[in-house]
Amino acid sequence: MSFTADRLLLFGATGDLSKRMLLPSLCALAADDLLPPSLEIIGTARSDLDDQAFRQFAREALEKFLPAERRGSVGAFLNRLHYQPLDATQEDGFAALADKVGKPEQGLAIFLSTAPSLFEPTIHGLQKAGLTGDTVRMCLEKPLGTDLETSRHINDAVASAFPEDRIFRIDHYLGKETVQNLLALRFANILFEPLWNAAHIDHVQITVAETVGLEGRVSFYDDAGALRDMVQNHMLQLLSLVAMEPPSSFDATAVRDEKVKVLRSLRRVGPDETVTGQYRAGAITGQAVPGYDDELGKDSDTETFVAIKSHIDNWRWKGVPFYLRTGKRLPERVTEIVVQFRPVPHSIFAGSNGKKGGAKAEPNRLVIGIQPEENITLSLMAKVPGLDRGGIRLRPVPLNIAMQNAFAGKERRIAYERLLLDLIEGDQTLFVRRDEVEAQWDWVDAIRASWEDQGATPKNYTAGSWGPSAAIALAERDGVTWHE
Ligand code: BG6
Repeated sequence: MSFTADRLLLFGATGDLSKRMLLPSLCALAADDLLPPSLEIIGTARSDLDDQAFRQFAREALEKFLPAERRGSVGAFLNRLHYQPLDATQEDGFAALADKVGKPEQGLAIFLSTAPSLFEPTIHGLQKAGLTGDTVRMCLEKPLGTDLETSRHINDAVASAFPEDRIFRIDHYLGKETVQNLLALRFANILFEPLWNAAHIDHVQITVAETVGLEGRVSFYDDAGALRDMVQNHMLQLLSLVAMEPPSSFDATAVRDEKVKVLRSLRRVGPDETVTGQYRAGAITGQAVPGYDDELGKDSDTETFVAIKSHIDNWRWKGVPFYLRTGKRLPERVTEIVVQFRPVPHSIFAGSNGKKGGAKAEPNRLVIGIQPEENITLSLMAKVPGLDRGGIRLRPVPLNIAMQNAFAGKERRIAYERLLLDLIEGDQTLFVRRDEVEAQWDWVDAIRASWEDQGATPKNYTAGSWGPSAAIALAERDGVTWHE
């Protein structure tokens, strides 16, 4: 049902995500007049605050996490905010919450960002309090379970109150402008699509490297690890956008139908196709940082790095490995996709049969930089200027598009701005459908099961390095070098 919500109910309103992302995003949207004028925002969490105290909390969050030039009229934004304390495990508290929400004229969007153990009681409480009707949408933030079974359990609980077309599962990578631009690059240009297949692409690399360590999320991260924290969601979404067939339109069903086909075509990963690591004390940009177990305060077998050689079993990608790697405490923060093309079938410059030359035509490579800056670089072979007495010389030169310059003056938005607006307006295209999440878990669970079978434990790597040397070997034994 299509409606624009005029009430937004934020669970976990005093949490980290709310402080760093949600309140700043909403304020930035308000500053640009993009929120419905009548939108009221109701925060709820366990903390015993009133409207004024919540507004003060929000003011401090905005001062810290939203640049001054994007804040607009903070007073007007804060006036939209209300607060109702709630212990989600106590059903009787939901009636007061429903009173606070009042009767939306058009519709209600709920954003659930709480501990997974609170999902079910929250859904039941909302149902009891009449907050799940036809004009209510439910948005869910990760972690949505820890494996396929627990994720199904959560999805079933949500499905008992909301149909799939009113459920919005967040993967904040899809809210990133640069990730959406992948679709524009692939499907708004004639250039790439004819070459985007096994006949012309040798392999693909997807790297999501972070310099941060635990960031205080000790127990969450130690239970999750890099595979569940980053690969199960963000990296598989990136992979599906790179690998999917062209959807017939930029529409929620068409796009998600194509992504899920890719996710379902992922081959089970073989025993020697993954490498895990855990960082030890080292240095990042010259600054000493402790090892994972020091940060954690105990020994642990949780991986903070994972590299995977994956395969998509379909016609388009037959025999094209997709190398994935992600880790904490790596030398730089970078998210990029590297598409390595195959060599030309015959090089006229190779200098055979006693002819002059011997120049090597290196295969083209497309590097799509997603973070920290969006850069698209296509390496092309060019002739080195000169009179070529010893034969022609070739060198790769980059065809480089810095998006920041191409779109100078355009606002760089927080991923959640886009997602919150789509939630309020009811567009599911950039949200993850249940079948996608389940296909992602299915694949990731099999990897974890294989680690357990093998009794695999993470290898050490020094903070500030690119992970354990085995990760380099994983690619190098196929003659592939990670792009750095
Ligand atoms: C989150 C993970 O989903 O994504 C974090 O839980 C990670 O561990 C974060 O740091 C990375 O997001 P971004 O937008 O900074 O790349």
